[in-house]
Amino acid sequence: MTTRALRIVLAGGSGQIGQMLAWYFQDRGHHVTVLTRGPYTASWQTVHWDGLHLGQWTETLSGADVCINLAGRNINCRLTPANRAAVYDSRIQPTKLLNEVISTMASPPRVWMNASSATIYRHSLDREMDEATRDLGGFEMLSKRRRAPDTWNFMVRVARDWESALFETATPRTRRVALRSGIVFSPTPGSAFAVLSRLVRLGLGGTQGNGRQYVSWIHEDDFARAIEFLIDHDELDGPVNLVAPHPMRNREFMAAFREAWDMPNGLPAPAFAIKIGAFFLRTESELVLKSRCVVPGRLVDAGFDFHFPDWPEAAKDLVRKWKSRE
Ligand SMILES: NC(=O)c1ccc[n+]([C@@H]2O[C@H](COP(=O)([O-])OP(=O)(O)OC[C@H]3O[C@@H](n4cnc5c(N)ncnc54)[C@H](OP(=O)(O)O)[C@@H]3O)[C@@H](O)[C@H]2O)c1
Repeated sequence: MTTRALRIVLAGGSGQIGQMLAWYFQDRGHHVTVLTRGPYTASWQTVHWDGLHLGQWTETLSGADVCINLAGRNINCRLTPANRAAVYDSRIQPTKLLNEVISTMASPPRVWMNASSATIYRHSLDREMDEATRDLGGFEMLSKRRRAPDTWNFMVRVARDWESALFETATPRTRRVALRSGIVFSPTPGSAFAVLSRLVRLGLGGTQGNGRQYVSWIHEDDFARAIEFLIDHDELDGPVNLVAPHPMRNREFMAAFREAWDMPNGLPAPAFAIKIGAFFLRTESELVLKSRCVVPGRLVDAGFDFHFPDWPEAAKDLVRKWKSRE
C-alpha cells in the first residue's frame, strides 16, 4: 500500500466492521474519520451525520482519499414490516445521500466503497457464484414446487437496490466498489463468531438445517487486507465479492467450528428448530438456511493472496484470539 498517510472516512463506521477497519487503518498510520449518528469518544475522529441530510460532515469527504459506507440497521432482527422499512431505508438513504454529495463535489474521494452483501446471489447448492455469473437471487425455485421464502427475496432486493443507489449517478472522479461480503468473522462480542461460539460451547453447535447449504465467510484480517488491496487497485470497480475462496457446507463448517473449540459433539438443529429458535431469538432463519456458495473471482484474478483461505485454520485462529481476550 502507498506509504502516504491516507484520509479514510468510514460512514456508519461505529459497528463491527467499521471498528475493525478503523483500528486496522489507524495502526498503519492513516487518518480515520467515522461518520456516526451519535459521536462517541474514540482514538480516531468521529463526526455527526444522520445519513439523511446534508451537513458539516460533508467537509470530511472533501479531499479525502477513501470513503467506505457501512451504514445500515443491523439485519439480525425479525423482518416485521417496521424492521423491513428500517433495514431498507437505513441502507438506501445514506447511499443515495453520499451519491448526491460525491457526484457534485469539487474534490471528492478517489475511491468510494459501499457495503453490499453476498446474499445478493441466488440460493446455490449446485455451483459457485462469482461476479461474472450474474445469477442473482430473488424469487428463485428451491425445488419444483417451493419458491424461495419472502424474507430471502427481501434481502436480495435490499442488496440490489443498495447497489443501484451506489451506481445510479456518474461520479467521474471517484471509483466505486460494491462490497459483496460474506459473513465477516471477528473475535468480538456481538458478532456472528460470538453467537456461533456460544452455541458450540453450550454443546448446541451441530449441523444446522440439512447441513448441505454453503456458508460464505471471510476472516476479519483478510477482509481488512482486501479493502486495502481494493484501495490500491485502480482497475477494480463495480461489484467485488469479499469472501474466502472456499465456501463450506454447513455440516463441515460447524464440525470445524466445534473442533476449533475442542467440542467433539454438538446437538444438530433441523430446519424447523432453526425457524422456531430464530423466532424466539428475534432473528431470521435466512441467515443460516440460505446457501451462499460465493467465491472471490475478481480478487483472486487480480492476485489477492488470502491468509485464511480455509475455514478450519481461520476458526482456530479466531478461537485462539478470543481466548487471549477472555
Ligand atoms: N458483519 C457482517 O458479517 C456483514 C456481512 C455482509 C454485509 N454486511 C454489511 O456491512 C455493513 C456493516 O456491517 P457491521 O457488521 O459493521 O454492521 P453494524 O455493526 O450493525 O454497524 C452498522 C452501523 O450502521 C449505523 N446505522 C445503523 N442504523 C442506521 C441508520 N438508520 N442510519 C444511518 N446509520 C445507521 C450504525 O452507526 P451509528 O449508530 O454510529 O450511526 C452502526 O454502527 C452493514 O450494512 C451490513 O449489512 C455485514
